Amino acid sequence: MYTTDLRTKEQKQKDQREAIAQVGEDDIAFQARIDDDQFIEPKDYMPEAYRKTLIRQIAQHAHSEIVGMLPEGNWVTRAPSLRRKLILIAKIQDEAGHGLYLYSAAETLGVSRDDLVQQLHEGKAKYSTIFNYPSLNWADIGAIGWLVDGAAITNQIPLCRTSYGPYARAMVRVCKEESFHQRQGYELMMAMAKGSEAQKQMAQDALNRWWWPSLMMFGPPDEESTHTAQSMAWKIKRFTNDELRQRFIDATIPQAEALGLTVPDPDLKWNEERGHYDYGDIDWDEFWSVVRGDGICARDRIQARVKAYDDGAWVREAAEAYAAKQQQSAEVA
Ligand SMILES: [Fe+2]
Ligand SMILES: [Fe+2]
Repeated sequence: MYTTDLRTKEQKQKDQREAIAQVGEDDIAFQARIDDDQFIEPKDYMPEAYRKTLIRQIAQHAHSEIVGMLPEGNWVTRAPSLRRKLILIAKIQDEAGHGLYLYSAAETLGVSRDDLVQQLHEGKAKYSTIFNYPSLNWADIGAIGWLVDGAAITNQIPLCRTSYGPYARAMVRVCKEESFHQRQGYELMMAMAKGSEAQKQMAQDALNRWWWPSLMMFGPPDEESTHTAQSMAWKIKRFTNDELRQRFIDATIPQAEALGLTVPDPDLKWNEERGHYDYGDIDWDEFWSVVRGDGICARDRIQARVKAYDDGAWVREAAEAYAAKQQQSAEVA
């Protein structure tokens, strides 16, 4: 997901060793507050490993929101009607807002937005693997809203109760907007699926390509996700990757059926005993190759972000010059 742990095994082990070496009385009191479901606020004591985990997760989430604008931006000039164009622009603008709330939340932990952005541009920071896939036909815009934003909601609703206050509060607003995104995507898919034969084929093609990458958004299976236990103890995370993935699949299959579309998984079937859908194997080799930077659009995405940053340099300079001038006249007065 936007917030999945994408560190290497070695990095995780190093972080864990550091965390264990530092346990003191403050940490015990801190854990007691977490167990009591209290929010941790920026000026409160927190273990260094908790701070580091949050910075990594919130920054990765922020980067995902910002990079996530690119596959959809690709279709703004080609939206088939004014109504669709307005909806798409509004959605993309929301994502920019999500990125900004999240960079602000990360800044309360003592990092600067400039440093985080630089890490992204240098390829040192991760963002969700899903945004390295191309958006090839107009129905992809529906599939992204329906599946990608749908998966985002599944992951982010529990984050409204995550233990770090500024992150949790940012998530409340983000989730309201994500819900609009999911619905507009589904409504677009419905229009395509109930349209001409060619439109229905476009919708099916989009579902075929976005289904598996959407399931990968929840991150590696629980048995490979060593980080989950610590994040659950800190209540940063409240459900495991597999639990969230299952919840998303169970909610989405009836929606696909209502569209008259078929999910590209021959092993998918309802399991009466479990009360959940069983599903086929996910191609984790593909997932890790995208994490490593080999996604189809990986290079383009970072180039686009760097270009946007460079093109906006004059705006930042003008804002700084204006602020300096304001301060000067305030001092004179
Ligand atoms: Fe978002
Ligand atoms: Fe969204």
